[in-house]
Amino acid sequence: MIKDSVIKDPSLASKGRLKIDWAAQHSPVLNTIFKNQLADGALSGKKVAMCIHLEAKTAYLAQLMNEAGAEVTVAGSNPLSTQDDVCAALAEQGVRVFATHDPSDEEFEQYLEQTIETAPEIMVDDGAELVGRMIEKRPDLLDNVIGASEETTTGILKLKAMDAEDVLPFPVLAANDALCKHMFDNRYGTGHSSLSSLMYNTNLFISGKTVVVMGFGWVGRGLAKYAKGMGARTIVCEPDPVKLLEAYAEGYEIQNSLDAAEIGDIFVTGTGNLKVLNSEHFERMKTGAILANAGHYDHEIDVAWLEENAKAEREVRNNITEFEMPDGRNIHVIVKGRLVNLAGGDGHPVEIMDLTFAVQALAAHHLAKNSKDIPSGLQPIPAELDQLVASTKLDTLGVVPETRTEEQEAYQTSWR
Ligand code: NAI
Repeated sequence: MIKDSVIKDPSLASKGRLKIDWAAQHSPVLNTIFKNQLADGALSGKKVAMCIHLEAKTAYLAQLMNEAGAEVTVAGSNPLSTQDDVCAALAEQGVRVFATHDPSDEEFEQYLEQTIETAPEIMVDDGAELVGRMIEKRPDLLDNVIGASEETTTGILKLKAMDAEDVLPFPVLAANDALCKHMFDNRYGTGHSSLSSLMYNTNLFISGKTVVVMGFGWVGRGLAKYAKGMGARTIVCEPDPVKLLEAYAEGYEIQNSLDAAEIGDIFVTGTGNLKVLNSEHFERMKTGAILANAGHYDHEIDVAWLEENAKAEREVRNNITEFEMPDGRNIHVIVKGRLVNLAGGDGHPVEIMDLTFAVQALAAHHLAKNSKDIPSGLQPIPAELDQLVASTKLDTLGVVPETRTEEQEAYQTSWR
């Protein structure tokens, strides 16, 4: 074990190892890409820092980077999604880990700063936590950086803002925007895992309930699909008129959120925005309403307002806080408004993260191999890497895509 790792309990390693091995068994794309690309020596000796939800699937990515020869340091991207047994297994394997489950704010910050202090050359980031801190707090280390890749929509928004201010001195590959990432992970992965976490944590029946989905982007589309699939009356609230119309065409009810607040049994946010469920909604909600968030940060539901204004607050079930409103109604919030699928469950299905982490692994490999040719700033993942992930997955399914005949190619590329 690397001596300077900070983890909760090294004796949990064997439990974490079992979890990682399970993820490994169900990650055929990542395993193929490791054999064919990752292990070619490009990552050998490279210092890689990762800020990710520290559970088994992400741990498997860190393990493969380590096996590809990189010197890997990891920190958690969310205080509640870190699993201590997984951290122990990674540390035992030789990955440097700065993460514990539910640390104080100061500890969480310290872990991220310790990760940056390793002077990484490549950063695999989630929410631009490492990149943002590196630029603001450790400009002295910027010269070491070859590049970074970004996992999620919220991080991409921050990176766009950094790019607009011209403060990104190295390339950051938008892994989130790869088709094999957001079309599957944000949509199906988040929808599937958030609904399953909701059911597990509440032990309630979804069928017949009114589920209000806030946001109809990639995450919202998945949340609505799985809520409806489980038999819920599903209402979508979204500011973009085209997306709202799309929700209507998909067969969902569409409403303004203040109207939906009065009839919803369960509310799930997936917007990447701030206070999308706030006091105006809480005042209208039925007693017993259940609130969960699938967006990146824990401020989509204004939990701070509930904490300040509720008459009483108590844990009524593992991961469920009940807020008693001044008028006697109760509002229930799952995992304090943090990502319901990751802080309240094991996150996305393994097969979905197999695609996402294949994208991330190829992004790190691409940075290591082509560092001099990639311009600084936010950059797309090369389309051929996306294609490689999709075709590798199809290979593992034993499916051969259609090939167009020469005649068809000619027909489709001619204007006559
Ligand atoms: P997106 O940009 O595709 O969709 C967000 C949608 O929310 C947009 O359509 C936007 O118009 C809408 N929105 C903004 N403000 C709103 C408001 N006040 N009320 C209702 N809707 C509003 O983004 P995407 O990819 O769907 O991601 C959403 C969030 O989920 C981000 O924070 C992202 O980082 C996070 N995410 C979480 C995952 C998880 O595992 N829980 C996985 C992937 C993404």
